[in-house]
Amino acid sequence: HPSVAVRRAVLRGPPADTPGDTPGDTPGQPLPVESRPFASYGTALHIALPQPPRAGQRLTLEIDYEAGEGPGVCWLAPEQTAGKQKPYMYTQGQAVLNRSFFPCFDTPSVKCTYSATVEVPEGFTAVMSATSWEKQKDNTFVFKMSQPIPSYLIALAVGDIVSADVGPRSRVWAEPCLIEAAKKEYDGVIEEFLVVGEKLFGPYVWGRYDILFMPPSFPFGGMENPCLTFVTPCLLAGDRSLVDVIIHEISHSWFGNLVTNATWGEFWLNEGFTMYAQRRISTEVYGPAYTCLEAATGRALLRQHMDNTGEDHPLNKLRVVIEPGFPLSLGVNPDDTYNETPYEKGYCFVSYLAHLVGDQSKFDAFLQAYVNRFKFQSITADDTLGFFLEYFPELKEKGVDSIPGFEFDRWLNTPGWPPFLPDLSPGQQLMKPAEELAELWAAEGLNMEAIEAVDITAWRTYQLVYFLDQVLQKSPLPEGNVERLSKMYPKISKAQNAELRLRWCQIVLKNNLEAEYSKVKDFLHSQGKQKYTLPVYRAMWGGSESARALAMETFSATAPQLHVNVRNYVKKILGLEVVE
Ligand code: BES
Ligand code: ZN
Repeated sequence: HPSVAVRRAVLRGPPADTPGDTPGDTPGQPLPVESRPFASYGTALHIALPQPPRAGQRLTLEIDYEAGEGPGVCWLAPEQTAGKQKPYMYTQGQAVLNRSFFPCFDTPSVKCTYSATVEVPEGFTAVMSATSWEKQKDNTFVFKMSQPIPSYLIALAVGDIVSADVGPRSRVWAEPCLIEAAKKEYDGVIEEFLVVGEKLFGPYVWGRYDILFMPPSFPFGGMENPCLTFVTPCLLAGDRSLVDVIIHEISHSWFGNLVTNATWGEFWLNEGFTMYAQRRISTEVYGPAYTCLEAATGRALLRQHMDNTGEDHPLNKLRVVIEPGFPLSLGVNPDDTYNETPYEKGYCFVSYLAHLVGDQSKFDAFLQAYVNRFKFQSITADDTLGFFLEYFPELKEKGVDSIPGFEFDRWLNTPGWPPFLPDLSPGQQLMKPAEELAELWAAEGLNMEAIEAVDITAWRTYQLVYFLDQVLQKSPLPEGNVERLSKMYPKISKAQNAELRLRWCQIVLKNNLEAEYSKVKDFLHSQGKQKYTLPVYRAMWGGSESARALAMETFSATAPQLHVNVRNYVKKILGLEVVE
């Protein structure tokens, strides 16, 4: 492991009079901002050594630096927290933001251990993605990560946060006003996921698995920072209905954090395998019917994504070409790979591999051997597929990598809809009623008798989500139908659950239901998750004049609280200028 000591880093919040996203221009740089790609991410640090090192020689570099205004470090004012009393800061490294947090080899192909001593102001607590954690003296916290990890998994948060145990190796962290809800949401359920994960994929090597509930503007559902997953507070639904996000992040403990994609062009190796692992754990814990229903909502998202971008879009390949010259060249920004393709098409490819094997327990054994073979390494799909064929020599002999239409090369390098879809029919018993109800609501003259005969009070959240996705697909509905639907199901139209709110906003906009625009506005004011925020802005921008006005008005009110990446994506949707 490279031994780089980063000492005496000073993290500074933005000056009180400037917004937190001012590009961090280095003083004395002659180039104008627009001609320097990634200007706000900082600049490369070149270190000339007094003499060339000998092979195997240990080298210690001490770098004094200040960081603060790059995109990796987020500084929140008290009003942007749940408690609204104290400021908060957190870092988000994935994909290439941590280079603005500390000097590093900011590529997932390099792994190292780290330690950090963090001094914070009185009354604040620091937490990190580390295997050990110690409060040294007041206001000083010492962290050590004893396993080698890539730079993007180093994460820090500082705020008014407290913790509560939810299992033998797990606790939740949150602002004091949320801690009760956080404990209630996941008390006693985390351990089972870890145990099932270990049974399926091998030892959990990270010691603890804790969860930090972030302020509402956190841009992701969850981020798998080792030992300490960061999650959106939207998961606090009160009924554990969004626990699939936790299972997903736990699954990264093997896929992503142990076996890591060597480049962001192979992001599907992290996310596709994690989706597969997530659904394996979910199948063991909740059974195939529920898991297939959840997977069907994932497939619907992939459909929407491909419809939006066009199937042939270069991002719709599993293996993406990331051009070094981004953003001036035509290459892809690694952050743009965060779309449904690596997740859901990746899931289909892993499911296809399982289908080739034909026996679940044999495929589970392969996954465990795969993790064991490549743990603590960074690999490409060639390593994965090479190992697969080596592990199953009979499949290699049959030439399964070149079956016409299903060539491994085609899976990786051809954009478009997956050539193989796993069978989700075990979810039919839950999906069918939702499909039928959506049919009824899409009809010209509503058959209220048939509609009233369907009792949705006992439906699971994902059944409602599936129903709403069907309604959205059929929208705009005939005049008046959505108003009636809204009145009939306050459980949906007045939902607090973020997954339901997202769909309801999309339906309101697709049907131009101006009477409920306030719900769209409230939803965008209440949280800043990228996967919620962008689809809603896309729907507004693709809608009527009044919807566009709503978009502009909402964006000018909420822009300062959005994560800088999310803010830039919204600007692109609204045709506003983006300074990279
Ligand atoms: N690692 C991702 C989040 C991420 C991806 C951050 C790319 C930055 C760049 C995380 O594991 C994730 O996939 N989260 C999902 C959860 C969902 C698939 C259950 C999310 O945030 O929605
Ligand atoms: Zn993930």
